[in-house]
Amino acid sequence: MRIKRVLIDFFSLVSLCMWTASCTLPTATQKHPSQKPLAQVETGRYLVKAGDCVSCHTLKGGKPFAGGVALNTPFGVIYSPNITPDKTTGIGKWSGDDFYNAMHLGKDNKGKHLYPIFPYPWFTKVSRSDSNAIKAYLDTLTPVHQQNKPNKLKWPLTWRISVAAWNLLYFTPGNFKPDPKHSLQWNRGAYLVKGFGHCGECHTPKNMLGATRKGNKRFTGGAVGNYWFAPSLSDNLRLGIGNWSVPEIVRYLKTGSNDKSDLAGPMTEVVMNSTRYLSNPDLNAIAVYLKNMPQKQLVTVTKTSKPDLTTLHRGHSLYMFNCAGCHMDNGAGVPHFFPPLRGSSAVQTKDPETVIHVVLMGASLPPPMSTPAGIAMPSFAQKLNNRQITDVVNYIRNAWGNRAPLVRTETVSAIRKSLK
Ligand code: HEC
Ligand code: HEC
Ligand code: HEC
Repeated sequence: MRIKRVLIDFFSLVSLCMWTASCTLPTATQKHPSQKPLAQVETGRYLVKAGDCVSCHTLKGGKPFAGGVALNTPFGVIYSPNITPDKTTGIGKWSGDDFYNAMHLGKDNKGKHLYPIFPYPWFTKVSRSDSNAIKAYLDTLTPVHQQNKPNKLKWPLTWRISVAAWNLLYFTPGNFKPDPKHSLQWNRGAYLVKGFGHCGECHTPKNMLGATRKGNKRFTGGAVGNYWFAPSLSDNLRLGIGNWSVPEIVRYLKTGSNDKSDLAGPMTEVVMNSTRYLSNPDLNAIAVYLKNMPQKQLVTVTKTSKPDLTTLHRGHSLYMFNCAGCHMDNGAGVPHFFPPLRGSSAVQTKDPETVIHVVLMGASLPPPMSTPAGIAMPSFAQKLNNRQITDVVNYIRNAWGNRAPLVRTETVSAIRKSLK
């Protein structure tokens, strides 16, 4: 009986190790100069990438992890704090418990509520040992003495206690529970997507109070920041990534582009600072999970009226003159050079903000991800007026069998204004 127990324990440990990156073998006795076990520090360094902590905690041109990044929310500006091990302005005095409480419960070392723009509603799933590894890594950083900036929020949100009410409505602390019906690989993917990756924070619609929708609304696409839209990650063939293969998803997350789409906007930081550093097994696990999400995502396909013929005609002329040289007459693009617009989920999104942004501002993959040819999508802000952009966007969203709700000139003009 005992042997059987021991064997079961051994195998559950082994399988656990395979989906949490945190399993350090007891023989790993090498020490980092900070006196933390080297393997733990290295695991932490990797997980900090998986959680994309840099995008929010490192100011462009600033010291790593010293905070001060202004994060715009519909409720005001929140500045990210200093998470270097400085004893007075950073988290140098925090214990492992304090740190875990932040990740798991969304509370700081004094028990005060943190605002949910810090993705604790997702990080709550992070295991205690992975949380310890991150803390061990952060402890090895050079302490930066830099005071946190005060937030610019509207009352009553200045009262942190208001977050308690929000938590009561929308937040349940929880641990990641592997689903035995699925493979280890799928479970590892679920842990990364729903925990560290907080992919759903952008790719899910939010309610008035900024909480992401649950159930079958998860991953059906959502608005991000100032006029961007993160497409559905569901298996819908037109709006989601239903026609992307596992290797295609992996390539997008590793390099920022594949034969179906090229990234732009807020996804750029995600790939630059996070996913391109993930191991191939982890990227494959993410892709396998995304292709086999547990519940059917309910993608509401808005009934759309086709653009009238005159609009389509105007759009077609603009397209042939300005775009067809690269994206081809039939919208098929050129593999490795120009993404296809025909059949593209990025083009047919429910809300058109990202497409409009790309046509107005242009887009390119930042180095070192840029294609060998290094050809970028040019900006049309100077060349086309709001009406023309509306026409050409309505055309690409409804030509060649594409189908998407009509774009209004007001939306284009609002996005153009936001760029100034
Ligand atoms: C989407 C942006 C975002 C990401 C990604 C993010 N954070 Fe934060 N984090 C914040 C903001 C904003 C706050 C401050 C919230 C507040 O003031 O209530 C914060 C607070 C914290 C705190 C509390 C510090 C204190 O002084 O109270 C810790 C610890 C922390 N983050 C660690 C991390 C780690 C580790 C990661 C990556 C695994 C991470 N964060 C990823 C935005 C982010
Ligand atoms: C900060 C917000 C944000 C986060 C976090 C985020 N994404 Fe995205 N994502 C976007 C936006 C915006 C786009 C649209 C980019 C475009 O079309 O050029 C996008 C595009 C994508 C696409 C391409 C979809 C298509 O149809 O073209 C995939 C796949 C994707 N994201 C996967 C992920 C995964 C996996 C994660 C988590 C590891 C993640 N994203 C996290 C904002 C985000
Ligand atoms: C000089 C070549 C060129 C021209 C001309 C051009 N594009 Fe692009 N386009 C690109 C490239 C390259 C990309 C990929 C950008 C990146 O890497 O982020 C792109 C990306 C896009 C995307 C985003 C696709 C995705 O998968 O996220 C859209 C939408 C788009 N172009 C529409 C247009 C429209 C509409 C026009 C004409 C008004 C146009 N393009 C003209 C080269 C071009």
